[in-house]
Formats: sequence, C-alpha cells, structure tokens
Amino acid sequence: MRILGMESSCDETAAAVVDSGVTPFAGSVKILANVVLSQIAIHAEYGGVVPELASRAHIANIGLVVQQALDGAAIFVQDLDGIAVTTGPGLIGGLLVGLAVAKGLALASGKPLVGVHHMEGHLLSPFLSGERGMDFPFVVLLVSGGHTILLYARGLGDYRFLGQTRDDAVGEAFDKGARLLGLGYPGGPAVAQLAVDGDPNAVNFPRILLDKTRFDFSFSGLKTSLRNYLQSAGATEGAIKNIKDIAASYQEALVQTLAIKAISACHHMRCPRLLVAGGVGANRRLREVLGERAGQSIQVFFPPLDLCVDNGAMIALAGWRLLTQEPNQHGDLDARARWPVQEICSGV
Ligand code: KG4
Ligand code: ZN
Repeated sequence: MRILGMESSCDETAAAVVDSGVTPFAGSVKILANVVLSQIAIHAEYGGVVPELASRAHIANIGLVVQQALDGAAIFVQDLDGIAVTTGPGLIGGLLVGLAVAKGLALASGKPLVGVHHMEGHLLSPFLSGERGMDFPFVVLLVSGGHTILLYARGLGDYRFLGQTRDDAVGEAFDKGARLLGLGYPGGPAVAQLAVDGDPNAVNFPRILLDKTRFDFSFSGLKTSLRNYLQSAGATEGAIKNIKDIAASYQEALVQTLAIKAISACHHMRCPRLLVAGGVGANRRLREVLGERAGQSIQVFFPPLDLCVDNGAMIALAGWRLLTQEPNQHGDLDARARWPVQEICSGV
C-alpha cells in the first residue's frame, strides 16, 4: 500500500509517501519521499513556538510540501491507497490546517482518510529505518518539546501506558533552562553544545524520581533549582564561574532521570528493547547514559535523526496500521488539541 502521511501538529510542516510493502514490520517498508519544513527560524526570535505564527506558516507551506512529497515519490494522488494525517494532540491551528488539506485531498480523490495519534507515529518510527533487531515488544521513551511519555508496545496497535510527565516535558525543561542560561532557541541543542566541555558533577541538581515504582516524571522543580542556583550564585560575586559546568550539570540531571525511569520500566516489563523517539533523543549524553544503564540485557534503539523528529513518514506508517487493522472506524474526522495517549492504550 502506498500512503501519504501529513504532519502539522507543532512547528514542522511535513508530508511523506510510504510504500508499506507486504509486511512492513519485517523490513519491507520503503520511504518514497519524506519532506520536512521546519519553522525554527520563524519562532527562534520569540524563544518558543508561537501558535498563530505556526498556523500561518503551515497554511502557507503545506500545499508545496505535499506536492514535493508526491513529486519525490513520482506518484499522483489517484495512485495512493490512503491518506493519513495527524489529528492530535498538538496545536489546534496547525492540526486544523493539516486536517482540512487532507480532507480536501480525500474528497477530491475518493481515497480513504485516517486520523493518526501523533504518539503512534513516533512509536512506529524505527520500523521505517529497518533497525536491525527491532521487534515487538519494546518500551518506548518518547521525549520531545511537548511530551515525556513511557509506553509498552506489545504489538501493532497493542500499547500499554506506563507513565508521563506531570508538568513540563523534558524538551521544555531544556528550552526553559536554556532561556535561564541566556541561550537561544531551541534550547536542547544549545545546552547540549555548552555541556560538551562542562563538568556534569559540578552542581548537584536533583534527580526527581517521584514514586520509584511508578513511571511518572516531573521536571518543573529542576527548572526552579536552576533558577534558584543562578540567583544565589549571581548574588555571590563571581560564583557563576563556568556556565558550561552549569549546563552540563543541568543536562545530567535531566538525562539521568530519563534513563533511570526508562531502564527501570524495561526491567519492570521484563522487556529487552527500548526505543527512544522525539527530538530530545538527539541528545548525545542521553544516548551515552542509556547505553551505560542498559547493560547487556537491554538493547536501546534510536531511529535516525530525520525519523526521530516530527515527520510525515511515521504518520503514513501509523496510517497503514489504521487502514488495515481498523478499516471501518474512520467517520468524519476532527482535530484534538488534547488527546491523552492513554486513549490509544489498553488498560492491562
Ligand atoms: O520532537 P521535536 O523535534 O518536536 C516536538 O516537540 O514535537 O522536539 C523538539 C525538542 C525541543 O524542546 C528541543 O530543545 C529538543 O527537542 N532537542 C534537544 C536536542 N535536540 C532537540 N534536547 C536536548 N538535546 C538535544 N541535542
Ligand atoms: Zn513529535
């Protein structure tokens, strides 16, 4: 099946065409085209994503992005087997742009249309790159600007919720920390860059683990610790000696917290595989620490960067799942800014 996937839930306008092949989860899936237009330059001067500007940029660019994906795949809409679009969660203006265009294409072509939960796209992304050894079951650590979630993926469409952040997402914690340190946006890469030459043990920021038997996160306290540290250090003349050490220590607290929880989730589920998806998955220190904590018994998978961040290919693959497993469940679609991930998970 050849599926067009569209994604516009945050600050990337993206479209891709994916050929599922016969058995997409045994390595036959092919990405025919994958076009991602980032809006970072638009939002950078505001230090974060501005929803109205995001919607306007999506509406300005989505036609071109979809056309480029179809051209890149050398395919016409008429030759597709289906269209998949992110219908939530995310910024409502962006979601509506994607959904309206997808509905228009589906109406004009008569092709089936499915609405994808953004998280399901992320969790299926390793199958797009044919990671060796990747298979169900696996634990998913989804870490982005808007989400910090742990799930257990037992099989296709068979997911169990383990935990999520109660306040800030980890990417948000990187971004807010960067702002406190006077760095640019997006904050994650800026903090990571400074941290390279810093001492991660210079400042003892807390690892907030909450209840050790559960898999929830909380990052807002850590941001407050950083603010307090900077304020008290600022009061003591010359105490903010080394911003690199502070960045490295802050990053260390974030990545250690993620790694402790994710690896303990794998042990809890007796699961030998961990998938890391979302923008924060690009963090080198997170990769190192997870590798150290995973030991021999757990294999950690990181999809390549272009599939780790928001893209249309992962939405197309999740669309393939919906079209084949739930063909009759897609009436008139609506966009949902809030769509708890628990709703795509089963209770047990
Ligand atoms: O998945 P993503 O591209 O977009 C969504 O939020 O959906 O993730 C963006 C987030 C931002 O918060 C950014 O600061 C963070 O990922 N990020 C990083 C790194 N690269 C991006 N955080 C830490 N280290 C990085 N190298
Ligand atoms: Zn995402």
